[in-house]
Formats: sequence, structure tokens, C-alpha cells
Amino acid sequence: MTGRHAIDARREQAGRRMRTTAVANNKGGTGKTTTAVNVAAIAASMGYLTVLIDLDDQGSATKWLGHSPANTDLVEVFRDDRPLDDVIRSTAVDGLELVRASAELADADRQFGGEAGVQHALLHALEKATQRDFVVIDCPGDLGLVTIMGLAAADDVLIPLAAGAMELNELPKLTRLIDKVRRRLNGDLRISGVLPCRVSKYGKHTSKVVADVLDTLRKHFPDELLSTVIHESIRHGEAFSAQQPISWYEPGGTGDREYRAAVAELLAPRAREVATRG
Ligand SMILES: Nc1ncnc2c1ncn2[C@@H]1O[C@H](COP(=O)(O)OP(=O)(O)O)[C@@H](O)[C@H]1O
Ligand SMILES: [Mg+2]
Repeated sequence: MTGRHAIDARREQAGRRMRTTAVANNKGGTGKTTTAVNVAAIAASMGYLTVLIDLDDQGSATKWLGHSPANTDLVEVFRDDRPLDDVIRSTAVDGLELVRASAELADADRQFGGEAGVQHALLHALEKATQRDFVVIDCPGDLGLVTIMGLAAADDVLIPLAAGAMELNELPKLTRLIDKVRRRLNGDLRISGVLPCRVSKYGKHTSKVVADVLDTLRKHFPDELLSTVIHESIRHGEAFSAQQPISWYEPGGTGDREYRAAVAELLAPRAREVATRG
């Protein structure tokens, strides 16, 4: 069973709960958008009815999926309670829908920053929208209001991390924000994965740097560090230009296999949770 049929069958399963994953990191260029697009597309291909919400005003995920950023769609959702269903678009990937980025998200504080309860506006919009199986939120590369809204709406955060020392230095700012969101806005928020991205394949010196970064990550995130690593590959940039997720651009290639492995880890019931349930 493929595509739509699998999705219809899944939707009919009673009591199915939507999962919302925010892909966040305050550093730009760490692979957030590449991860969000590929994870969402692969989940859709597995039969999960999936929607990708592009919260980054730059609109890279929107363009990757063949659309142009909107001017105000999401801004109207957050400011005027416009229904999210109104602004959901289909994509060329079966089972994957998109909420396009809005250029005016760049000016979020002025556009809707003063609205009552705005930090929960995305959560409320999702609660009122037609239920999907999986919502993936591509956050902007800062820790401002829009990222906070993404984290407040999410069950879990996936942190893509370019495996360099500079990226590690920035990480505490993100984990502090996640802790604060957990204390003040979203008590159930958890980190579902730390995914090393853009990992170089070559050179002794690079391997040593990468190994050191992975060691440090393992110490700080013993449960959250995924065993999958996304290697540096020119194919990811090419896939963006071709407006295709990597698994469509180069099926069976390294990027496809690595992102599929990451999705398998993310969507698998966690060993710890299974253990406590039993
Ligand atoms: N695994 C990878 N290998 C090579 N280039 C990558 C990889 N992942 C991302 N990139 C490139 O790095 C740049 C930033 O990636 P992107 O996913 O947009 O990061 P972010 O959303 O965190 O800013 C883009 O040009 C993208 O094509
Ligand atoms: Mg991005």
C-alpha cells in the first residue's frame, strides 16, 4: 500500500494523535531546513499524513517544495486567528502538505508580538486545524518570538548540528531556551534528537575534530544524540535547486539513506519509553 491509500487507512485509525516536531537551532546554516524538508518528505512517503510549517521568513523550505513564500498567510494566522487549514498547500510529494513562509514573519514582533497569548498562537492554530499524523516545523535561525512559538507548539525538538566547535559553543543558548519554554509554556517539550549534519567525510584532522564534537555531544545528550550522522554532500544543494527532497532527487544515495535512518530513529518508540511502559 502506498501514498494516499496508506494515509487514508491511517487516518481511519481511531484515536490517532498528531505529533509535532520543531526543527530548531539558533545557528544559521546548520541543516535545519535540509533536515525539516527531508524528514517531512520521508515520513510522508512512509504513509504519515505530514505538514511542513515554514516559520523562517527566508522561505527556503517553501522554495524547496516548489512554492513561493507568501506575504502574510502565517501572519494572519497568528494575528487574526485565520484558520491554518486556509493556508495549507499541497506539494509534489504525495502526503506532504506545506504552510508557506510569510515574508512578514521577519517583522514578527511588530506584526503580532503584542497580541494576547501570541506565544501559543501556533499551538492553538494546530489544535483547530484538520488533524495530520505529523507536523514538522522549520524554525528560523534565531531564538526570537517565532522560534518560541514553534517550541511552544511542539511535542519535541530535533536539533540539527553542524559538527564543529563553533556550533557547540552556541548550543547552551538553545538548550536554555528549551528549558525556559518547558518551564513557562510547554511542560511536555522534550528533545527527540540531536542530529550531526554536514559531517565531513575526508581528512585526518577533520575526523579528529568531528570525533571530539561527537564525544562532547554524547556526554551532554546521552539519550538524545542520534546514532545517524548526515555527511556533507553536494547532492543536498542540488536537490534544493531541483526542488526535490533528497530521497526523490537521488533515491538510494547517501543522503537518502542517512535521512531515512534518522527518520527511523525519530519515529521509533524510544527504548526507554517502551521499557517504562512494560
Ligand atoms: N549534509 C549537507 N551537506 C552539504 N551541504 C549541506 C548539508 N546540509 C545542508 N547543506 C547546505 O548548507 C546550507 C545551509 O543548510 P540549511 O539546511 O538551509 O540550514 P539552516 O536551515 O540551518 O540555515 C545550504 O546551502 C544547504 O544546501
Ligand atoms: Mg533554514
